[in-house]
Amino acid sequence: MIRYGVVGCGAIHAMHCDAAKNIDGADLIGVYDVIPEKAAKTAERYGVRAFASLSELLSEVDAITVCVPSGLHAEVGIRAANAGKHVLVEKPIDVTLAKAMALVDACESNGVRLGTISQHRFSEQIRNLHDAAQNGSLGPLLQGDAYIKWYRTQAYYDSGDWRGTWELDGGGCLINQGVHYIDMIQWIMGGVKAVQAQVRTAAHQIEVEDIANALIEYKNGAIGVIQGSTSFYPGLAERLEVHGRYGSVIIEGDRTKLWKVDQVAANEGLYGGGVQMQPTPSLHMHDPEEAVQNASSDPTALWGEQHRLQVEDFTKAIVEDREPFMTGRMALEPLKIILAIYESSRQGGARIEIA
Ligand SMILES: NC(=O)c1ccc[n+]([C@@H]2O[C@H](COP(=O)([O-])OP(=O)(O)OC[C@H]3O[C@@H](n4cnc5c(N)ncnc54)[C@H](O)[C@@H]3O)[C@@H](O)[C@H]2O)c1
Repeated sequence: MIRYGVVGCGAIHAMHCDAAKNIDGADLIGVYDVIPEKAAKTAERYGVRAFASLSELLSEVDAITVCVPSGLHAEVGIRAANAGKHVLVEKPIDVTLAKAMALVDACESNGVRLGTISQHRFSEQIRNLHDAAQNGSLGPLLQGDAYIKWYRTQAYYDSGDWRGTWELDGGGCLINQGVHYIDMIQWIMGGVKAVQAQVRTAAHQIEVEDIANALIEYKNGAIGVIQGSTSFYPGLAERLEVHGRYGSVIIEGDRTKLWKVDQVAANEGLYGGGVQMQPTPSLHMHDPEEAVQNASSDPTALWGEQHRLQVEDFTKAIVEDREPFMTGRMALEPLKIILAIYESSRQGGARIEIA
């Protein structure tokens, strides 16, 4: 039984509490928040203990999930790792590469597991696309795009003094909202080599960007576009579009909208592509009203099932003494891409290579 503690009792923490409560082989022991009333409220709701300090929580658990503002992830995670506890940290892993690397190093040197939430990687639709792109079913890859045209009000940014700040949010629509889809498109396409970008603060009173456009070069020679926003009312369903020589796939929200492959070309292995076509995954019709019901406009509309699957995998990784499906090291990739986009924009759209 892996005993979990949840650190930070804000908007996202209930996903982690629910998961730890409901997964076989896991239990929720208690919670901690710098605001004791928030921890007390959660503790009452879940019938667990509200700890008065992080060290007290750490002394009673095997693992923590880190749900504090993004720029504090490494600080909290490193304390847990140094206490010999496994760490599952919310996205992004942290807001600077130095802090993120320090967390990875602390977990590795203390021999504890580190996972970072990227819950959409646990969606069947996304895994189908990843596998098809990587096993050659779509043919040589040409282009991979991520469009995250979301909407957040000024009240959202004003709801927490860390939101929309460089220090604790690390940026705006890309590092907070877009990071999921940037992680997925780079995973599906096989890694990013370089970016050229323009970002703007256009519609909110915040320090960071609320519109971003980037041209992407992938390691395999394909190209693509990343567009992120929290400025576009009413908030559109996010979209991944992948084009290979044999065909195209579009995933919108968590639905496969288009999966169209030239079977003849694929079966004959034209253009130097890979393997026989996989069966087309089931398609779901798009309901335009859904776009405004989901996280594209509502920060509280989240997909709990995928969090549960990721916490379950992390729990099994601890028990089976293996790496989790989404490691801390993997989470460095989307962070590097986002930081390179910011740097490119600062340099007037210069081409920035990802180290
Ligand atoms: N995976 C997702 O879909 C998803 C969705 C929302 C948020 N998040 C991530 O979760 C993290 C938290 O976001 P949120 O929206 O829940 O924020 P929030 O502001 O609603 O909650 C953060 C909580 O952390 C507490 N806190 C601050 N510093 C602390 C510390 N040092 N120790 C303990 N508690 C502390 C605050 O009091 C607050 O209750 C962010 O990194 C965010 O990017 C992920």
